[in-house]
Amino acid sequence: SLPTPEEFAALAEEIAREAGAMLLEKRPARPQVLLTKSSPTDVVTALDRAAEELIRDRIKAARPGDAILGEEGGATGEGAVRWVVDPIDGTVNFLYGLPEWSVSIAVEVEGRIVAGVVNVVPRGEVFTASLGGGAWLAGERLRCNTGVPLSQALIGTGFGYQAGRRKVQAEVLTHVLPAVRDVRRAGSAASDLCSVAAGRLDGYYERGPNYWDYAAGGLVATEAGARIGGLHGRPYSPEMTLCAAPGLFEELHDLLAPLNPERDA
Ligand code: IPD
Repeated sequence: SLPTPEEFAALAEEIAREAGAMLLEKRPARPQVLLTKSSPTDVVTALDRAAEELIRDRIKAARPGDAILGEEGGATGEGAVRWVVDPIDGTVNFLYGLPEWSVSIAVEVEGRIVAGVVNVVPRGEVFTASLGGGAWLAGERLRCNTGVPLSQALIGTGFGYQAGRRKVQAEVLTHVLPAVRDVRRAGSAASDLCSVAAGRLDGYYERGPNYWDYAAGGLVATEAGARIGGLHGRPYSPEMTLCAAPGLFEELHDLLAPLNPERDA
């Protein structure tokens, strides 16, 4: 029989902690990275790959039959259980030494996310969640903020990498910014969703993150009482991921939907 969601979360946590420790140790100081002759992104890519390999090895050792979807290594294996891995979410922060990057690991059973772990490594914060078992940080159960109106809300978002998409994201922002308390762009979608869970953000939206960016953080947020979804009742997806407490979720949705934020210029 399969492990429980809590058991999957415990294994994911162990692996995310080990990968985080490796990355913290191997991350070169920023000047070194930026002054290196090879492209700075190569250094990051090499560590990204090394971390995903470590994670894949540990998953395979513990659960040889499971499928894995990773940002670097793509999809391997098939079966009822699939691990969804982002070895470094927030790669630009990682490159610059900003303290907001994370190792993100989610576990799906029959297509449903049952466990999620986000290790925000530089802060030493490991967020964990299991389906029906709540969201946790350092032994404390997390609860998202509730009852915050849109006009008072601190909203997180992110931007993609292509210029055309950014143009639309900037345009959408001209409507969001005057309607809310303020906007944050922290640089890691996984961590943003955990911030919603912890009440450090009231809500989050982004057009464009990949599944591995938000799979684990999404469960952390929903287990903390937040709602997650797309536009017009659609499930959340790379087209649009919206997350906030019920009430604020709808207000944010109604602000965004008419702006048609899923288009690319
Ligand atoms: C990115 C980060 C960023 C978000 C981008 C993602 P990566 O992931 O999560 O916050 O705005 O959409 O692609 O590339 O650092 O793994």
